[in-house]
Amino acid sequence: MSEVTTAAAGQAGDALENLLKENRKFAPSAEFAANAIVHGDEYAKADADRPAFWGEQSRELLSWSKPFTKTLDWSNPPFATWFEDGEINAAYNALDRHVEAGNGDRVAIYFEGEPGDTRTYTYAQLTEEVKKATNAFESLGVIKGDRVAVYLPMIPEAVITLLACARIGAIHSVVFGGYSADALRSRIDDAEAKLVVTADGTFRRGKPSPLKPAVDEALSAPGHSVQNVVVVKRNGEDVNWVEGRDVWWDDSVGTASTEHTAVGHPAEHPLFILYTSGTTGKPKGILHTTGGYLTQTAYTHRAVFDLHPETDVFWCTADVGWVTGHSYVTYAPLINGATQVMYEGTPDSPHQGRFWEIVEKYKVSILYTAPTAIRTFMKWGEDIPAKYDLSSIRLLGSVGEPINPEAWMWYRRVIGADKAPVVDTWWQTETGAIMIAPLPGVTAAKPGSAQVPLPGIAVDVVDELGASVPNGHGGYLVIREPWPAMLRGIWGDNERYQDTYWSRFDGMYFAGDGAKWDEDGDVWLLGRVDDVMNVSGHRLSTTEIESALVSHPSVAEAAVVGAADETTGQSVVAFVILRGSAVEDADIVTTLRNHVGHEIGPIAKPRTILVVPELPKTRSGKIMRRLLKDVAEGRTVGDASTLADNTVMNQIAESLRK
Ligand code: WTA
Repeated sequence: MSEVTTAAAGQAGDALENLLKENRKFAPSAEFAANAIVHGDEYAKADADRPAFWGEQSRELLSWSKPFTKTLDWSNPPFATWFEDGEINAAYNALDRHVEAGNGDRVAIYFEGEPGDTRTYTYAQLTEEVKKATNAFESLGVIKGDRVAVYLPMIPEAVITLLACARIGAIHSVVFGGYSADALRSRIDDAEAKLVVTADGTFRRGKPSPLKPAVDEALSAPGHSVQNVVVVKRNGEDVNWVEGRDVWWDDSVGTASTEHTAVGHPAEHPLFILYTSGTTGKPKGILHTTGGYLTQTAYTHRAVFDLHPETDVFWCTADVGWVTGHSYVTYAPLINGATQVMYEGTPDSPHQGRFWEIVEKYKVSILYTAPTAIRTFMKWGEDIPAKYDLSSIRLLGSVGEPINPEAWMWYRRVIGADKAPVVDTWWQTETGAIMIAPLPGVTAAKPGSAQVPLPGIAVDVVDELGASVPNGHGGYLVIREPWPAMLRGIWGDNERYQDTYWSRFDGMYFAGDGAKWDEDGDVWLLGRVDDVMNVSGHRLSTTEIESALVSHPSVAEAAVVGAADETTGQSVVAFVILRGSAVEDADIVTTLRNHVGHEIGPIAKPRTILVVPELPKTRSGKIMRRLLKDVAEGRTVGDASTLADNTVMNQIAESLRK
């Protein structure tokens, strides 16, 4: 662990020291506990034999076309297999089997478009749409094992596309619509995608917002693997058309046959790749496979959200471009036969009550969103949700970053009528599914803490040397035993997989998060201890943004830090040294922000760019981000004694005063 990251962990620890004095607890009501799906005995059952526990869950929650006889194989760590000799089709599990069981008329998706258009899909209708998409993709030459890049807004076609890929056994790779053409191209290249599925565009705050131009730009340079681009007509804007390559969704999927029989794929067949930021400039293609992933996403969705599929209306607000939109929009809710809401837009369009209007309209009973959204709602004021009938809500979930106790309390009181249990869920793109969370009918919930590893999950907090720390102490979050939904690797780079996750502590998965046990033995997450930032629950890499900045001809050097931000958790602050000729350019900050937007995507644009004469470096040339973080957060600058040139911080302070 470098000096810089240790310091970051220390700071996060200090800031959270106060929170750990939290002693409010909210036990579930007797009624909630009595009707809960999962009871406390599950922990002991899972502890007794972890693989057997997961095997039992898998058999209960999924339909295997060829039953497995083995559960876990961990003979070659860190490469695990789960349910290896079984065969299963993810799309069949999400769709056909519910229709076969007589639930075809149950609503699968209530879709609410940003402009207010709506669509409802029953399980029977969604099954039919996915069969059509499957046939259409197959007729474009997509076969099992091919990669399909998906660059779509939050519209039902996104779910339909993912499930059609899964049905074929093609590996989907979703690229968030907020990423740039460059980012899209590098992901297409890394996975060698054969097909891209996109839309003309979407709507943002009442206006059309384009997507297809980024695909065209991404594919403008030759040497890519893409044969076809399927285009959903969503916002009706004009698009460029490449004859022979581009196909309208309506012409291909729209006219395809509704007949398709799903076949099982091996449990360890890859289901998807999802790129996520790491500590280096190059995003990692996190690889997930089928059987274990479906088992744990389905189990956690049922257990953590206390899902009663016949009566609940579930709404996860995450975009399908993130892992939450994979696990808790596309897969788990449909595997579990739930009814869910899908919303295309932002919470403030056309007004700040949009979320609550949707809750009221569809009688949402389980809401799953991010602390950054909750803090924004707090800022807007509680009279906005007060205008709507939120009485359908019976459970609230949070994900993406630590939730501060104030936000937790507000969420429970204002949105949950002071009675809905709040479940804070910790997990990662890499873990595939929720790992740490209260069980709503069992755990007395504590504001701000994700609390307990789920049944069947072995989480620990260890010190620098990998030894468990006692209650009341902090360190690094690790996972001690393999879990069903764990990543199976980084696409095309097994070595990086081992180095990144399994080399820091012997035999343990290192999550990259700092954590602490409180005196009750509950886990508190303390934020990242590496060079990964968390902005509005989105992972961004400092190195990646630095690389984007220095790729601009005006920039000589750049250092990026995540500074604490009241609403977004962290925000991107960049320090740049300009090349001689650029120093006079008054618009340089705007130019550089747009440049980062172009290189990575709007979500990565720095909130603040500070032009400085020097950067603080150690004698070995490492940038001391810790000191820059002090500056960015307006603190007195900490210990700078290891700087190669100890006048640098003064120079920076001086230049910022000007
Ligand atoms: C952070 C999102 C605290 C954490 C599902 C993790 C959290 C990273 C929580 C993964 C939480 C996620 N409390 N921190 N409940 N949930 N995180 O891959 O730092 O986009 O490592 O997955 O988000 O982000 P990712």
